[in-house]
Amino acid sequence: MDLLSDTVKDLHPISVHFPIALLIVSAALSFILFIKPRPSLQHTTWVLLWVGTLSAFISSVTGLIAHFPYEETELHDVITTHQNWSFAVTGLFIALTVWRWLSRRRQADAGTKPLYLIVILIGIALLTVSGLTGGDLVYDYGVNVRGINPLLEQ
Ligand code: HEM
Repeated sequence: MDLLSDTVKDLHPISVHFPIALLIVSAALSFILFIKPRPSLQHTTWVLLWVGTLSAFISSVTGLIAHFPYEETELHDVITTHQNWSFAVTGLFIALTVWRWLSRRRQADAGTKPLYLIVILIGIALLTVSGLTGGDLVYDYGVNVRGINPLLEQ
């Protein structure tokens, strides 16, 4: 039973790696694509974008689940800061994915446009703040931390 409840609590730290990795690689490849156009790379940036956006949405859901036990505590405000940055990231990448999907349907992929690169860069900046504020919750405030290293126990 402990394993099940621990896994549910850990779904957020497990899922957050996906948007962070996939969206950063999608953005990095988009910049390479801008300098050196290559159709196969263009498709890769698109797949990484939509899978990364889907995983950002899933991370927002698992984050909401992880925060419920702290709703009535003094940590609520600091968690809300992280939540707001994370909602901003998720919203921006959903909008970017929809824009790019529509442009691809018109056979005019927006993935190489300067405006697209500016928006994805803003998205990565927001994602960085989301990750940093999330890390603060764990490493500064001990949210969802179970047990203490016995070697450090005095
Ligand atoms: C794009 C969406 C999100 C990203 C990328 C993200 C990222 C992170 C990261 C990197 C951590 C630190 C994990 C660790 O070091 O173990 C974290 C922790 C946390 N996040 Fe998020 N987060 C997102 C959405 C949310 C949302 C919407 C909430 C709702 C309040 C939330 C609540 C929490 C909580 C409570 C923690 C600390 C406990 C735990 O890790 O389970 N997150 N987040």
